[in-house]
This record gives sequence, structure tokens and C-alpha cells, in this order.
Amino acid sequence: MLWRWRSPSPGRWKSSSNPQEAFLSAQREESVRRIAAPDIAARKGGEPIVCLTAYTAPVAAIFDDVCDLLLVGDSVGMVVHGLPNTVGVTLEMMILHGQAVMRTSRRAMVVVDMPFGSYEGDPRVAYDNAARIMKETGCQAVKVESGPTVPDTIHYLVQRGIPVMGHVGLRPQAVLVDGGFKAKGRTEDERTRILAEAHATADAGAFAVVVEGVAEPLARDITAAIAQPTIGIGASAGCDGQILVSDDMLGLFDWTPKFVRRYADLRGEIGRAASAYAADVRARRFPGEAETYFSKKS
Ligand code: KIV
Repeated sequence: MLWRWRSPSPGRWKSSSNPQEAFLSAQREESVRRIAAPDIAARKGGEPIVCLTAYTAPVAAIFDDVCDLLLVGDSVGMVVHGLPNTVGVTLEMMILHGQAVMRTSRRAMVVVDMPFGSYEGDPRVAYDNAARIMKETGCQAVKVESGPTVPDTIHYLVQRGIPVMGHVGLRPQAVLVDGGFKAKGRTEDERTRILAEAHATADAGAFAVVVEGVAEPLARDITAAIAQPTIGIGASAGCDGQILVSDDMLGLFDWTPKFVRRYADLRGEIGRAASAYAADVRARRFPGEAETYFSKKS
């Protein structure tokens, strides 16, 4: 008899004819320790923190070995669901994608974004929503966009046991007030305001702060000013870590912002694969014998 257990890679099963070996191996694979908020906080000024967004189970399984932190970003609304911005993203969407990412990752810290409208008002409502995300996904922290009023809520959540990552600079959830996705920190007023927001976010107890779309001097000033690691996106090499929207860096779109480096051309690859499949179906080359079931010989 073969004893089977699921390995951390999705769809992969391992087996052994020795039940004790199977039990111990399964336990070993399960007991990989996840990176947690204090581990990330301790990386300030040290080895750069590697982060990517992840929204689905198979992609999370691939990134898990490579990244320190996986962000289930509310960018999922634009990237996966085709929304024009992140304002329409719901708590239920974040929970569903958070669950998928948690199911196939073992080692990387998983942070789930709190969507627009779920935390900016009453801190008690923010707490209920954050607790729901934590309970229903099993993630290690939530992220909020820290405008001028949000640091009080960060403090409220952290005091009650919820690790929080902040997010300053370009705040995509404020796109309708800002009138577009524009780089920040290029004027003295804006620099002063964003630096103050970063200070308030850090003082409120955030374990790390995403710094998005700001000019390099401001990113360096924030990184120097706060004791927590900064995670940059479009914020120069002056941050303690970096994050990109994974679909951008994998080349799934024909346009990407200036700060994205494309490490693959998945749009081209997928297009080529779909065309090859279509040509095979039309020419009756697919399915072939290798892809066909036949009757058992009696
Ligand atoms: O939602 C997201 O993907 C983010 C990153 C841009 C940091 O917040």
C-alpha cells in the first residue's frame, strides 16, 4: 500500500510505502515556518526585502520560494477583474483571493489589502473587517493606505493584535480625488505632507511601509526617517525592499508604468500558445492519439 501526502507545490503528491516515513515527511513539509511581521521589521537596512503581488493559488505556489512577502493587493480589481481602478474592490474579493494565496504558500508572509471603504471611517468597523480578513484567510497582516486620518486606525488595529503594513505616497484608492495615478513628492508641500504621513504611519505601529510612486529624494528621506522597512514601488532603489504588481513584471499587459521592469513576455507567450492551439483544432491536429482515451483491451 502507498501512503500519499500533498507537497507544498499545488497538484503535487508524494508517496511512500512506509506509513511512518509518510507521516514524518508530511509533517516536515507542513512545518515550514512562515515569515512574520517581526521578521520583516527586523530587515530594516539589511538584505533587501523581496515582495510581489499574488492573487491566485498557482502563482502563489511559484512565488513562495522566491519572495519574502506576498501581497494580495487590491490591484487584483484592475489586474484580474478588469476594473478601471481599485475603488470597486470588495472585502469578499480580497478574502477569496487571500484564501487562494494562503492555500498554496507555506513560507512567505502573506499580507492582504483592506479595500476602499472598509477601514477609513470608524476604527471599530476597520477592526471588524480586518479581523474578518485575518480569520477567513489565515493571512499574517493587512495593508491600509495611510492617508492623514488612517494612522489612528493603524494604532487601534495593532493594539488589538492585527499586524498592519502602511502605504504612503501615491495612494491608488485616492485616485478619484487626485484625478489620476500621478507620481508624488515633486513639490516641497507634497514632500512635507508625505513625510509627515510616513512618520505618523510608523509611529502608529505599522511593521513596514509601502512607498509608492514618489521621487527618489523623498523615498530616501522616508527610509532614513523611520525605523521600519520601506517597500518601494516606483520609489527608487532608496527603499529597504521592492514590490511590483506581478502581472506587470511578467509582461501580461501591452502598457506598463515607467518604473516596471518586464522579466517575461507572458502576453506574447499566451497569444502564441492560443494561436497554435486554434490552428491545431482547425486543422484537426488536436486532439491526437496521445490525448485520446481508448477502450481497454479485453
Ligand atoms: O494593490 C497593490 O498591488 C498594491 C501595490 C501597488 C503595493 O498596493
